[in-house]
Amino acid sequence: MIEYDEVIKKMKSEGDLNMNIKKMESKLVFLRSLELSDLERTYKWHNDVALYEFVVGTFRYTSRASEEEWLRKMQSYSTQEVNLAICLTSNSQHIGNIYIRHIDWVARHAQLIGIIIGDPDQRSKGYGQAALHLLIKHAFQDLGLLRLWGFVLEEHMQSIRMLENCGFVVEGKMRNHAFKGGELKDVLVVGICADDYFSLKGA
Ligand SMILES: CC(C)(COP(=O)(O)OP(=O)(O)OC[C@H]1O[C@@H](n2cnc3c(N)ncnc32)[C@H](O)[C@@H]1OP(=O)(O)O)[C@@H](O)C(=O)NCCC(=O)NCCS
Repeated sequence: MIEYDEVIKKMKSEGDLNMNIKKMESKLVFLRSLELSDLERTYKWHNDVALYEFVVGTFRYTSRASEEEWLRKMQSYSTQEVNLAICLTSNSQHIGNIYIRHIDWVARHAQLIGIIIGDPDQRSKGYGQAALHLLIKHAFQDLGLLRLWGFVLEEHMQSIRMLENCGFVVEGKMRNHAFKGGELKDVLVVGICADDYFSLKGA
């Protein structure tokens, strides 16, 4: 079976990149659907206890079987969620994932439920921010959503900075909402509305 990365490389070299992928690309990263061939990486990231120190969700050991089950679900078509791989534009390397879930097509909002750069060596190089920019663009310009919202640990300054750089604002605080390393932590609610996004773009 041809790996997805190889297909993209081939399409790029032939100048025949699928429009959808091209649209979700920046100088640093591009976004694409998760594929079953991403299993080894996502399995590793889900079992990385250190990574979970930064996220609101709880660490749980994940078996290969349940990882495969999860990935099959993530790669299948859904109108309720968007689950994407973050890849380097330079060499198509899959370095992380980004998801929006709980899409409400009436109020037209969705939750930014996660963004991870899985390999610590690839963090703090602007990739997370670049991926979030692309996802916001996709949500507002392609899906017609009007608002994205999410949770972030109050102490996670890098993530807050990334969110604010992309136009999110802090909308509230949930006290003692996450349990991390034996302690309860405060969690911020963040959000961005399409109006903010389009006025930022026009500015
Ligand atoms: C959080 C995460 C997605 C950010 O992506 P990244 O590629 O590492 O971050 P970026 O390089 O895009 O940096 C984002 C901003 O944070 C800033 N930053 C970095 N470290 C910081 C710190 N300790 N305090 C404040 N800001 C910091 C960067 O300078 C940059 O801002 P700038 O462009 O204004 O200079 C990534 O580090 C990650 O996956 N971490 C582990 C999992 C995680 O925390 N997920 C998010 C949960 S909400």
